[in-house]
Amino acid sequence: MNQDLFDSVRWMIGAIARGLNARHGEGVSTVLERLAEQPLGEAFFREPDPATLPVLRHLPQCIGETMLLDSDLAAAIAATEDGLRWRQSSTYSDAVLGEGFADNYGWAEIIGPNGFFAGDDVLLGLLMLGPDRHYRDHYHPAPELYWPLTSGSLWSRDSGPFEEKPQGSTIWHPPMTMHATKTGGAPLLAVWCWTRDVGTPAKLAS
Ligand SMILES: [Fe+2]
Repeated sequence: MNQDLFDSVRWMIGAIARGLNARHGEGVSTVLERLAEQPLGEAFFREPDPATLPVLRHLPQCIGETMLLDSDLAAAIAATEDGLRWRQSSTYSDAVLGEGFADNYGWAEIIGPNGFFAGDDVLLGLLMLGPDRHYRDHYHPAPELYWPLTSGSLWSRDSGPFEEKPQGSTIWHPPMTMHATKTGGAPLLAVWCWTRDVGTPAKLAS
């Protein structure tokens, strides 16, 4: 086992939990309860094959901005960066989500089938979106929390108007709630968590 990577991943998960524990938005306590239930000992640690994506060109800027919000978490993400397995949803093509979307989108599981710990019906991960993107209306059975670590992202729920959320705010999507995310001139780095019913992927609105 790669002890350094294990220690960095545990540090990152701990930093996420500590950061969320200082917040009181809808769904935060559910996420913290589910994280506390996950088996995260050395015996459960796996090393996914690391993978990068074009959107990662924005990660240094995002980590720099995260330093201003939560320096402990920013450092933990930087320490774990080389071990992350960045992925994309297979149906999220440029044809569906706009020219250049695939070069400006990606997510990595921390806990989940492709993460460092398999978890028990939980996904915890990082999401990145490049500037000027529209991740349009979609929904899924899993309740979901987003915690944007950078500023300037805009969020819509139930196909309502987009609202800019400050860096460090939390956004909760109950099961099957339609939701969408936009970026402006800056890239987005966010922590995201599905707290249960993770087996059904997100579906874009037709
Ligand atoms: Fe979602």
